[in-house]
Amino acid sequence: MNIHALLVSRFEEALDELGVSNAPVPVARSARPEFGEYQFNGAMALAKQLKQKPRDIADKIVELVKLSDVADKLEVAGPGFINIHLSDRWLANQCELALHDPRLGVAKQAEKNVVVDYSSPNLAKEMHVGHLRTTIIGDSVVKLLEFLGHKVIRQNHMGDWGTQFGMLLAHLHDKLQANQLAETALSDLEDFYREAKVRFDDEDGFADRARAFVVKLQSGDKECLALWDKFIDVSIQHSEEVYNKLNVSLTRKDIMGESAYNDDLANVVADLKAQGIAVEDQGAQVVFIPELADKEGNPSVYIVQKSGGGYLYATTDLAAMRYRSGTLQADRTLILTDARQAYHFKQTEIVGRKAGFMQDSQTYEHCPFGMMLGSDGKPFKTRTGGTVKLVELLDEAVERARNLIAERDNDLSQAELDEVSRKVGIGAVKYADLSKNRTTDYVFNWDTMLSFEGNTAPYLQYAFTRVKSIFRKSGISVADLPVAVSLTEKQEHALAVQLLQFEETIGVVARDATPHVLCTYLYDLASAFMSFYEACPILKADTPVAVRHSRLALAALVSSTMELGLSLLGIETLEKM
Ligand code: ARG
Repeated sequence: MNIHALLVSRFEEALDELGVSNAPVPVARSARPEFGEYQFNGAMALAKQLKQKPRDIADKIVELVKLSDVADKLEVAGPGFINIHLSDRWLANQCELALHDPRLGVAKQAEKNVVVDYSSPNLAKEMHVGHLRTTIIGDSVVKLLEFLGHKVIRQNHMGDWGTQFGMLLAHLHDKLQANQLAETALSDLEDFYREAKVRFDDEDGFADRARAFVVKLQSGDKECLALWDKFIDVSIQHSEEVYNKLNVSLTRKDIMGESAYNDDLANVVADLKAQGIAVEDQGAQVVFIPELADKEGNPSVYIVQKSGGGYLYATTDLAAMRYRSGTLQADRTLILTDARQAYHFKQTEIVGRKAGFMQDSQTYEHCPFGMMLGSDGKPFKTRTGGTVKLVELLDEAVERARNLIAERDNDLSQAELDEVSRKVGIGAVKYADLSKNRTTDYVFNWDTMLSFEGNTAPYLQYAFTRVKSIFRKSGISVADLPVAVSLTEKQEHALAVQLLQFEETIGVVARDATPHVLCTYLYDLASAFMSFYEACPILKADTPVAVRHSRLALAALVSSTMELGLSLLGIETLEKM
């Protein structure tokens, strides 16, 4: 049940009757429970149009709006707010409907094709923390969109092409000649890259060989391509190791690397030239973008082909845009990268739309995020200033979780401890990232992310096991629970409202690609449950059976909502910990 959408549609009808159509219908959550759960704030804006006092308009709307099934009180407050108090009976009813529904009462949305471009590491190097955020946030967004009924097409736009591969392939060639296995030679991509770079800078003749490899690669030389394939394959295996540890859903078939667009780049440039969008400037093919002019009025410059003939990141993104909107028929394209690329995607969208690479109805949504910082407030690095290997970071998370859990009172077997440590450790890293508003930088901190208090994965995983344990103690299974909810205490009312706000919450996440909104929701849900559990005894001997069943039904909904919500975030749950 999407309460917000329901209220909006009822107010829309009322406004229609009032003779105003197409007016905005602002319905917001109320700031405090005394004001009800929601508030309609539209009367003030209508005063001019209707030439009446806002409060009189609000009174009229209250008369017209049909909400007697949903709300037991509507009151006009302040300059013309309408406070909506949802009725216990209706809330209880909605909870009953959700209880045995695997979708928990959440409707599917009208299906759209959504392309999500995420993770997209550069294969020339080791995957670094910069790719952690896009991988984690992106994977949550795709899961959530799929749950809402959309056709999601994952696109791992890996950086697998470009001049730097010349130097890498020349170096790899020599290693293989010296009878090394590619897997061994490339076991540490960071080292490999550094070695190749040193040779490129210092070794006589190496740079020329590297350039020759680039030419061979681009002209489709068989041997060179085979070498490149080998390199790419091993590098992808590195990424897959990270994906497996993170339990993200990306597979090989989602890879659509930069190289996939190689054959189309000349067409893109030719097309831009034919349309007069790209022009020659100092030997290069350039698009001038007046929409993004600087203060002096100089247009922004967007190069699509270098003077030497080479293509760029931008050219590839234009080809990708055309492929996604044409072949893949994407209604929406979401691209998750760090905020430093925001300008590039702004340019790309303007140029691509001018060239007709996308329809007006198709959206191009760059979803930027801030950086992951170390405790010193600087970009996250190892103590010696090197790149942090993601695989090692994730192993450390599991190790730290194990130490913390082993310290706590528990009766876990060795195998259980392994599983709990993995789920808590990985969950903590993922959740720390997901729970922050993605647009800001955030400080990576082991102690806060692994804390059992506050808005963290361990807290929510633990809260989940507590709800589960109530059922173990009650001796009743959720399936056998009678469907009869009644709400009498204010904590029960508050909990029911929170439960029923799940659908509108994930609607926001699907629209804005902001998983932190779901994290906050789940944290609030866990808190609402704790308050309810303290105030409303469930298993106490003197709790009447009907009340116990009703409260167990609420608890069951809490546990299934938490489980579903956490799974949409890609966080695993546990039965005990
Ligand atoms: N490989 C790029 C990077 O590491 C990210 C690619 C994002 N997607 C795109 N279509 N440009 O920064």
